[in-house]
Amino acid sequence: MMSQTDLIHPGERWRDTDGQPIQAHGGGIIEADNAWYWFGEDKSAPTILNERGTAKVPFQGIACYRSTDLITWQRISTALSPVPDDPDHPLHTNKVVERPKVLFDPHEQRYVMWCKMGGPNYEYMHLGVATSKTIAGPYQFIEAKAPNDNRAGDFALLRDRDGTAYIIHPTDKFKVMIVAELDETATRLTGNLHRCLEGDGGYHGHEAPTLFDYQNRWYMLTSRVSGWKPNPCRACVADQLAGPWTVLGELCDIDQTETTFDSQPACIWPYDPARGRFIYIGDRWNTADLGDSRYIWLPIVWKDDIPHVRWLDAWHPEDDAAWVV
Ligand code: DGJ
Repeated sequence: MMSQTDLIHPGERWRDTDGQPIQAHGGGIIEADNAWYWFGEDKSAPTILNERGTAKVPFQGIACYRSTDLITWQRISTALSPVPDDPDHPLHTNKVVERPKVLFDPHEQRYVMWCKMGGPNYEYMHLGVATSKTIAGPYQFIEAKAPNDNRAGDFALLRDRDGTAYIIHPTDKFKVMIVAELDETATRLTGNLHRCLEGDGGYHGHEAPTLFDYQNRWYMLTSRVSGWKPNPCRACVADQLAGPWTVLGELCDIDQTETTFDSQPACIWPYDPARGRFIYIGDRWNTADLGDSRYIWLPIVWKDDIPHVRWLDAWHPEDDAAWVV
């Protein structure tokens, strides 16, 4: 019998092993050395309004947590730190740095972190890259720019089945999803890209792309574009990253809240991919206090071959019942 502390409690305050609220917003997870590492935005400083009146927390750093059970997390570092003495630096505390994602580069034997770099008021929509020989950092910043001269924003970082790394990000007022190839070091764009979901039935735009690979098909969940406010998640599927992508629809069948249970996707963790068990990881943003935004970890369940996010008050990924509709 599992105790309450062994369970995931979506939407409740999640504390680390020091008793501090976990600061890993907009996060990404990778597995290494028989453990899981969760990278995310440290938003522990007070929330302020930027010049556009949008809630923001001045850049505090990208935190790294380690776990061996996906439930108990120890903060092990600030993996990417602010640069406090140069106001023009993309990592200065006056900037917004969000949605870190990390992968391992076997070519250079180092870890590569990409982040969304918003500038002070979300005017840049650049992506930045940093590397470290050790998973917890400190990561050394390389550069931030518009990928292939496109406005970016939220993005996913992944490897395709052949090992090639890609960044997936919306552009053109969020109407097009770009699948952009990275070079063998995963730190530079090669310039090869695919424009996906273009002319997508006049869709109002999508961001927060999160992808997973199941039975040789890529699935992509995205949010609509509504700032910090939640909205219904949409699922698309393709045989290859380059597309063509088929829209499966917004996932409002099981999720009758039509707000992805008051959350926005951050990433999807392939918990047991052979059995189709993927964990949806989202953020329930709290604009009054962004550092108190909660984590919504839920099982993705399959209904008529369409992935759905399913609500559970408390659950454990080892519990088979969690994965059945
Ligand atoms: C939606 C994005 O997905 C978040 O990461 C954040 O940038 C908010 N917009 C800001 O409004």
